[in-house]
Amino acid sequence: MSDIPVTQLGRTLHLQILRHNPRDPDSEPRLQTFEVEEADAMTLFIALSEIREKQDPSLQFDFVCRAGICGSCGMIINGRPGLACRTLTRDLPDHITLAPLPAFELIGDLSVDTGKWMRGMSEHLETWVHSQGLEQADIDSLEESMEPELAEQLYELERCIECGCCVAACGTAQMREDFSGAVGLNQITRFQLDPRDERSDADFYQLVGNDAGVFGCMTLLGCEDMCPKDLPLATQIAFLRRRMVAVR
Ligand code: SF4
Ligand code: F3S
Ligand code: FES
Repeated sequence: MSDIPVTQLGRTLHLQILRHNPRDPDSEPRLQTFEVEEADAMTLFIALSEIREKQDPSLQFDFVCRAGICGSCGMIINGRPGLACRTLTRDLPDHITLAPLPAFELIGDLSVDTGKWMRGMSEHLETWVHSQGLEQADIDSLEESMEPELAEQLYELERCIECGCCVAACGTAQMREDFSGAVGLNQITRFQLDPRDERSDADFYQLVGNDAGVFGCMTLLGCEDMCPKDLPLATQIAFLRRRMVAVR
């Protein structure tokens, strides 16, 4: 008997894709199935590119880096948010359903505007270092050094690629348009830990001490389960909630 796994014997993949163009008044959301011959080490990015090249050039989806870095290829893959460029077809059954991430503005088919959502969140939560010193600093002057452990902690939180998978996986984000999501709360934690940021806990409370922020989180944990960068989102939210409760 052969040792070759069944998935490597050349399957025909059936990709059922949710198609819709919200700018076309005649467009109705519908599922369309495409067949693709599976290749070795095929990712969903490769399968979708093949469909666009050989079967339907109008298929819309987003990719930039193809390496899990830019965060643009998030989509719902068999009911779960994930990055298409990091998903191997051999890890999926031969019937694959793809849909756009919910909670974001649909551009068309699998393409959503996560950038607009992230920009709005960032402006609302002011996700940048607030420091008089930094604003006035000479560009050549040296920053004060930081403990390596703290720098490591900040770096860990900065690994977020703003893909939107945590927002798509969150029940609160589906119910509340204004919810900051795990991505936003993660960023607040990052700036709260940063010694260069002069904002107080009371300032952060103004931003996230409410139901659109940390008190809206119902600990559903989908964010952490679905984060492709394995960020400890639920732990960060619990930490932030404790800090905010202390201010209240
Ligand atoms: Fe994506 Fe994780 Fe960042 Fe959420 S926290 S946007 S899932 S990388
Ligand atoms: Fe949503 Fe994550 Fe909280 S899934 S409810 S932000 S723990
Ligand atoms: Fe950049 Fe997938 S294409 S993360």
